[in-house]
Amino acid sequence: MEFRRAGLLYLMDILSLIENRLGETYTLHRRYVNPQLVRVLEVIGYNRNYTRAGGSRLMDAQGREVLDFLAGFGVFNIGRNHPLVAQVLKDVINMAPASMVQMDVGVLAGLLAEALAGLAPGDLEAVFFTNSGTEGVEGALKIARQATGKSKIIYCDRAFHGLTLGALSVNGNEEFRGRNEPLLPNCVPVPFNDLKALEIALSKKDAAAFIVEPIQGKGVFIPDPEYLPGARSLCDRYGALLIADEVQTGLGRTGRMFAVNHWDVVPDLLILSKSLSGGYVPVGAVITRRDIHGKVFDSMDRCFAHSNTFGQNDLAMAAGLATLHVIEQENLVEQSAVMGGYLEKGLRELAGRYELIHDIRVKGLMIGIQFGKPSALSLKTGWNLLHKMNEDLFCQMITMPLLEKHHILTQVAGHGLDTVKILPPLVIDQADADYFLTALDAVLKDAHKFPGSAWTTVKNLGLRTAKTA
Ligand SMILES: Cc1ncc(COP(=O)(O)O)c(C=O)c1O
Repeated sequence: MEFRRAGLLYLMDILSLIENRLGETYTLHRRYVNPQLVRVLEVIGYNRNYTRAGGSRLMDAQGREVLDFLAGFGVFNIGRNHPLVAQVLKDVINMAPASMVQMDVGVLAGLLAEALAGLAPGDLEAVFFTNSGTEGVEGALKIARQATGKSKIIYCDRAFHGLTLGALSVNGNEEFRGRNEPLLPNCVPVPFNDLKALEIALSKKDAAAFIVEPIQGKGVFIPDPEYLPGARSLCDRYGALLIADEVQTGLGRTGRMFAVNHWDVVPDLLILSKSLSGGYVPVGAVITRRDIHGKVFDSMDRCFAHSNTFGQNDLAMAAGLATLHVIEQENLVEQSAVMGGYLEKGLRELAGRYELIHDIRVKGLMIGIQFGKPSALSLKTGWNLLHKMNEDLFCQMITMPLLEKHHILTQVAGHGLDTVKILPPLVIDQADADYFLTALDAVLKDAHKFPGSAWTTVKNLGLRTAKTA
């Protein structure tokens, strides 16, 4: 009876269930999940009710195709619903595997660990599997603290490492930290890309680790060439471990297998997640040196000193192996570098013509388009007006018409940064890039007319959200 009330009897036929109740998506989320997110989606016109996807394309309920330049926040490096990963998952389900026995270990986890050790820089070869990026960060922080016997963690302003309490303690964004204090004690922020500040923070030799995204996801900030090699030397000098959070930058995203490869840096711990399973199954991994791992798991009665239930589940492990295979077979790391270079050239050309663009930051297919105050008087008036109203409004003038008029999904790179972030699947081709550049050109053209309809639309959005906040 209870099951019938909960609508679960329909689960006997999942496709009919989806078809019959697709029209209720937002009602269900408003009522049972997160009504504030639904409000945001409605107000910016992102409530498309997507039903199908493949490669770099999404299909919405009305049958409109959308070019996905967001890739699920960087989950779909190999494109959505890759057939090879799907086949591997079906094969594993069909073989009825003995997954998660727990008081035994499985071959798939061993094979994925072997593959990751083969790809990881230097002598990183001991793998701990997780269910998410933030869980990887939690694990890395615990391993660093136990391996060094110290508790201080140094992190960067603007850093994003996930939202569980440990990861939040090394998060450099007040909008996430707020309302959660007190967080972990002894976590010290330093400005990103500032070796002097890092040295001061490390110099007491009391830090377990410095955790850093090689390229910061919020805003897409790329460090100077000497920063990460310098951080490596400083960590060595002062006895701290270097943790590279490659949850977003890893597995080809930046045009190298790992972003640290750009600077030939070998961290002590490297964290992966997001794209490791091709977007099918939650997965993550912390890869470290055997000697560091051995300091945590240092006796038989500590074999579960850090563990989880689902980390090594067979579906995630199989999807991980298939995903690595696809990345190699389809040359996606190189493709990311090539397409990133192509987009960079086009974006720099647009930046030369449109004064609202102040900076273009590109590494592979991790791209930030930074906007800033224009010098033309009329445009400056519009800029000031919008920013006075709400410091997050401006980018909506770019992202909203990109979706509404040109059917391209993009995102704002973080609060108060005036940066649009481009994070497409690594499988995009030149035609996709050209389509995006042409669409962006049209959107920028509208945005450079003040007064004009682009500004009015966003101003009205600001008025509406202020009224209903
Ligand atoms: C660099 C980085 N670390 C950690 C995380 C957290 O990952 P998850 O959302 O899987 O917990 C993210 C998520 O965006 C991230 O970009």
